[in-house]
Amino acid sequence: MAAGTANLSEKMVHPAVKPLSDLLGTWKGEGEGFFPTISSFNYSEELQFTHSPNKPVIAYSQKTWNLKSGQPMHSESGYWRPKPDGTIEVVIAQSTGLVEVQKGTYDMKEGVVKLKSELVGNASKVKEITRVFKVENYELSYVVEMATSVTDLQPHLRASLKKL
Ligand code: HEM
Repeated sequence: MAAGTANLSEKMVHPAVKPLSDLLGTWKGEGEGFFPTISSFNYSEELQFTHSPNKPVIAYSQKTWNLKSGQPMHSESGYWRPKPDGTIEVVIAQSTGLVEVQKGTYDMKEGVVKLKSELVGNASKVKEITRVFKVENYELSYVVEMATSVTDLQPHLRASLKKL
């Protein structure tokens, strides 16, 4: 990207979103799912962070596919609202019907966003969800942990994506 283009797009980012501007764009990669009660699986994923320069919010969406068959799997979308004090609140609606309100912190010097559910709604067995995202050298990785009515907080997903 030409230096002039980068400067222009940086200027067009809302000040509240600017600390997280490394996230903006489309990411593609692969992940692995596991949990003590299920068989492990592998998936491909496309994830997008977009935003309008006049809004202090990042729109988030992701879709996944079974790595072997190509069949669609889980998808979800929501909004990330970073605050100037380094805290962030996130709402996510999942294709399964489950909804999350997540609260946490971001530290973009370390390239880390940490989220913990304050509310999990319309879920049959999920009690808690944590999400940790790391961004470094155009690579985005995350770990999602969940607790259910029968299993303590443990990893369910781990993925690594590259910026397109
Ligand atoms: C299983 C929740 C994301 C694929 C499960 C189970 C729960 C769950 C509660 C059942 C566990 C049990 O029975 O003990 C969630 C939550 C997610 C999430 C809260 C996001 C925060 C995903 C994603 C994928 C996925 C992104 C696919 C890429 C699966 C599969 C199973 C499963 C394949 C096993 C189903 C089966 O064996 O019947 N998930 N999930 N999940 N999840 Fe997720």
